[in-house]
Amino acid sequence: MTADAPTGVGATALAVAGFRALESERADRLFEDPFAADFVAAIGGTVALEPKWVGLAHHVSIRTRFFDDQLLEAAEAGCRQVVLLAAGLDTRALRLAWPDGTTVFELDLPDVLAFKERVLAGRPPRCDRRTVVADLREDWPAALVAAGLRVDEPIAWLAEGILVYLTGDEVERLIGALRGVSPMGSRLALAHSLRNTRGVWRSTLTEEPVGWLARHGWHGVAHDTVGLSERYGRRVPGSGPSHAVLASAVRAQEPTG
Ligand SMILES: C[S@@+](CC[C@H](N)C(=O)[O-])C[C@H]1O[C@@H](n2cnc3c(N)ncnc32)[C@H](O)[C@@H]1O
Repeated sequence: MTADAPTGVGATALAVAGFRALESERADRLFEDPFAADFVAAIGGTVALEPKWVGLAHHVSIRTRFFDDQLLEAAEAGCRQVVLLAAGLDTRALRLAWPDGTTVFELDLPDVLAFKERVLAGRPPRCDRRTVVADLREDWPAALVAAGLRVDEPIAWLAEGILVYLTGDEVERLIGALRGVSPMGSRLALAHSLRNTRGVWRSTLTEEPVGWLARHGWHGVAHDTVGLSERYGRRVPGSGPSHAVLASAVRAQEPTG
């Protein structure tokens, strides 16, 4: 492994990149991420799927496709600012066809972004791409504003693969902060889990997802990966219920008076 590969929670971004590389090799792929394999190669790794990761790889493929669609829809609807919270090795800024005038902010911890920049060096983005080093447990909105985010214009937020790595209190603070910096017309897409199926996760969603979003100022729709798998024509590996929640929401009108 090279010296500057992300470690700790940052290493989870590499695992996700590996799953995206595998999906991109499929004839029936749900998306194509031509850069994902480069991250794996940069640490001297190879792309292979152990049987114990089949379910998680499926989840990553479904959620990637779902959020690709959600973000492009939000951009077409007028959100020309897109914020990828805990962007990891997400390459949407380079691979999606953004409308003219779109800025994509990628926020993550320093080691992940340093590694990402080294691997992506010389690859042109398809938007105004800005990386923002910040910790989601601290004053991350200030870091985004310093990088040029305008909180008086609609924003499309994505929280993919991050909420389970924050405690319940940290998730509440994060979604509370989002309300304060999201004007009407903003959108929010997120993934969370209703059950802790992995030892490393720090929280689950303990409320019904649509009600939880409403309580925080968002009018949302929640999906599970089983329904989305059907939508995309992809067989669900294994059996049993899906505990993942994939939600999309628009900023709700604040009550007046
Ligand atoms: C599983 S990866 C998901 C990355 C990306 N959203 C995706 O789906 O490809 C989790 C990411 O969360 C980032 N992360 C974890 N805790 C964080 C924090 N407190 N502040 C900012 N980023 C954090 C990690 O560095 C890592 O890149």
